[in-house]
Amino acid sequence: MKIGILTGGGDCPGLNAVIRAVVKRGAEYGYEILGVKNGWKGMLEGDTFPLNTDHVSEILPRGGTILGTSRTNPTKEPDGVKKIKDNMKALNMDALIAVGGDDTLGVAYELSKEGLKTVGVPKTIDNDLSATDYTFGFDTSINIVMEAIDRLRTTAESHHRVMVVEVMGRHAGWIATSGGMAGGADAILIPEVRFNLNELCESIKKKHKGGKDFSIIVVAEGAKPIEEKELVTQDKKLDAFGHIRLGGIGQRIGHAIEKMTGYETRVVVLGHLQRGGTPTAFDRILGTRFGVKAIELIKEGKFGNMVSLQGNEIVSVPLEKAVEKLKTIDMDFYEVARTFFA
Ligand code: F6P
Repeated sequence: MKIGILTGGGDCPGLNAVIRAVVKRGAEYGYEILGVKNGWKGMLEGDTFPLNTDHVSEILPRGGTILGTSRTNPTKEPDGVKKIKDNMKALNMDALIAVGGDDTLGVAYELSKEGLKTVGVPKTIDNDLSATDYTFGFDTSINIVMEAIDRLRTTAESHHRVMVVEVMGRHAGWIATSGGMAGGADAILIPEVRFNLNELCESIKKKHKGGKDFSIIVVAEGAKPIEEKELVTQDKKLDAFGHIRLGGIGQRIGHAIEKMTGYETRVVVLGHLQRGGTPTAFDRILGTRFGVKAIELIKEGKFGNMVSLQGNEIVSVPLEKAVEKLKTIDMDFYEVARTFFA
């Protein structure tokens, strides 16, 4: 049996744990593993290399992906699906493991409908993929947000300032809510709940007048004030999956807060720091369990499925369930965070 593995979309900590687990468990069954370079781009170009246990030695703590990644969408390329079919045949690739978020797994699902033997592994720092309790990468990113807030708190306190911390997460508030809750933020602004700038400023003023004259405001890149019609974006260009680059809401509200409250305000955009570097223990373990399970699904012939964390069990779910809708924040969870707002 020859199995391909690719990593697609934004990189995230824990990808190398999955690759290592696939190679090691695959070797136990005598499977040959082919590393596909740069996500779906590598499948379109037939750009692969044999992956053996030597390649994956010492990669567990490493961030990023040894395979490289891209945001290439083969369904948007001329004859893209046919090229992938032909390349799988030419490479004698029996099955393909796609490690990615909703875009990458959406393609894996389309290919499975065309009869290709695909298995998905859910990855994204955004944690916005349905049909799994968590994606790996998310835990590392919220720990980075928490540590950043801990550091910003001491300088905010010394200077009696408002610190606005802009975090990633696209159209879901998981990173903002979890990172903000762990860091004890005074307000967390998320895409799922339109926020009122006047009310926010009033609560900041009340807190500062009450004696604690500094604040930490976490804002998700996809958050929107009630009076704005459009999301704040870096530019108007769309990527191959139709996504716009979000970013800039932090600066926008930072200026407004300073103007409306009179308190000195600084803005920190955590950006790609949230995706870089070594994975947490949780993400290493989750990635490892996912990789092992992906090989088991192939052994059992369960194609068109994705590995998933449900409770403490690693199970399999149809790819269709994973990509049918975005997993936005659980409002009960957000309510817990709200209890601690200023
Ligand atoms: O989906 C992961 C993510 O980090 C989002 O949170 C963010 O909006 C986006 O990717 C950034 O993408 P890029 O790395 O292409 O700038």
